[in-house]
Amino acid sequence: MNSPKPVSPEALDTPVIIPVEAYISAEYARAEGQRLWPRVWQAACREEEIPKVGDYYTYDILDQSIIVVRTGPDEISAYHNVCQHRGRRLTSGCGHTKRFHCKYHGWQYGLDGRNVRILDQEDWGGAIDPKDVGLGAVKVGRWAGFVFVNMDPDCDPLEAFLGELPHWLDPLQIEGMRYGWRKWSVFPCNWKVFIEGFIEGYHAETTHPQILSFGRADTYSRRHGRHSSMNMRGVSGGGIGTSVDTSMQGDLRQVLIGGVRQQWETVGSLTTATMVAAADRLLEVLPETATAAEAGAKMMELARQMDADRGVSWPAVDPGHMADVGINWHVFPNLVLLPNVTYCLGFRARPNGFDPDSCIFEVYHLERFPEGQEPRPENVHTAEHTESEWRLLVSQDFSNFGEVQRGMHSLGLRGVRPNPTEEQGVVNLHRNLAEFMGRGAPEPPP
Ligand code: FES
Ligand SMILES: [Fe+2]
Repeated sequence: MNSPKPVSPEALDTPVIIPVEAYISAEYARAEGQRLWPRVWQAACREEEIPKVGDYYTYDILDQSIIVVRTGPDEISAYHNVCQHRGRRLTSGCGHTKRFHCKYHGWQYGLDGRNVRILDQEDWGGAIDPKDVGLGAVKVGRWAGFVFVNMDPDCDPLEAFLGELPHWLDPLQIEGMRYGWRKWSVFPCNWKVFIEGFIEGYHAETTHPQILSFGRADTYSRRHGRHSSMNMRGVSGGGIGTSVDTSMQGDLRQVLIGGVRQQWETVGSLTTATMVAAADRLLEVLPETATAAEAGAKMMELARQMDADRGVSWPAVDPGHMADVGINWHVFPNLVLLPNVTYCLGFRARPNGFDPDSCIFEVYHLERFPEGQEPRPENVHTAEHTESEWRLLVSQDFSNFGEVQRGMHSLGLRGVRPNPTEEQGVVNLHRNLAEFMGRGAPEPPP
């Protein structure tokens, strides 16, 4: 079972209609369970979740479950989470073990997946060999601190799947970041509705009007193989939370300070406490006439020094490269990263069983911390989707998703029409999805 190739070469800037089947059909959701999820690389967990040899993480996707386990100081393996005796699942959640012990009849498996105990093996009269009943291996790849898994034994290597992503994002050294906070919940929308809400900037002015006080959000998308990124035009620097709309007038130090504070208050990410403190110092160290670029560069310089003083060193990233990295990255199919040099806001959404109208999602903030002072936060389940639980920005996004999912069922909708400039990431997602699924490709409007 090989991944579909080649990556769809069609231009993304021609208007298309995407059929709604991919969002609402129960039959399509089942087909994803056969054609997409067992064949695609997907981020199962972060390496920091399994720091010690013997630490494991159980990754569930639809009806499949995978044990991701650290088998050596720098080695991670993954197995199908099923006992070869009569099929009991071996693990759930996270934990630490020397062996995987089946709670039904006591068979055991080493961290290397080999069967190391068959209770009453002599009952088989020599007809069973432990070598034949080890755990089924799942492919593992590691990138940016994430552990990726792929159930297809013939899949392309992770490096081929990622394509250009390491070129763009490796300089940011996301693998050196750790969880600052993390939350998860279930949402009444398709997993793609959730992901698409975070890979385009077209919605920003309407859904997040508060950001207009810091300039317009004129965004565009770019394809990177199966993946895509989003960037902003007319801003002073790279990345969200560090740039100012260059058409803004007045004291641009104040504009930047307001923007950074807003991120911290309304997202709890897309900046750091250090950066907020650094922004606050701009009024002392720069004149009122400072340009947007000067204010952004000075804030980064101050924040870099303040972090260095507490034992946090940043990678050196060329400002031109950072400007090209932009705001937002979609790692096909279901991971979204908004990275910068010292932080990253992340999203993941998975189907919630075979119900096309429900997904499980996670939101988290990664940041650099002094060694030994990483907070290691729990992944908190939050049933509500309110502003008080998720802060303003993400709760504004949530306000759309359920309404979109309901709208998708309307007899009055013939398909969705992504913006050919700002929502190319959405089109790219569906082009690639269609290559796995063998159907549902975006089509030109009639
Ligand atoms: S199902 Fe695991 S030992 Fe029987
Ligand atoms: Fe949004």
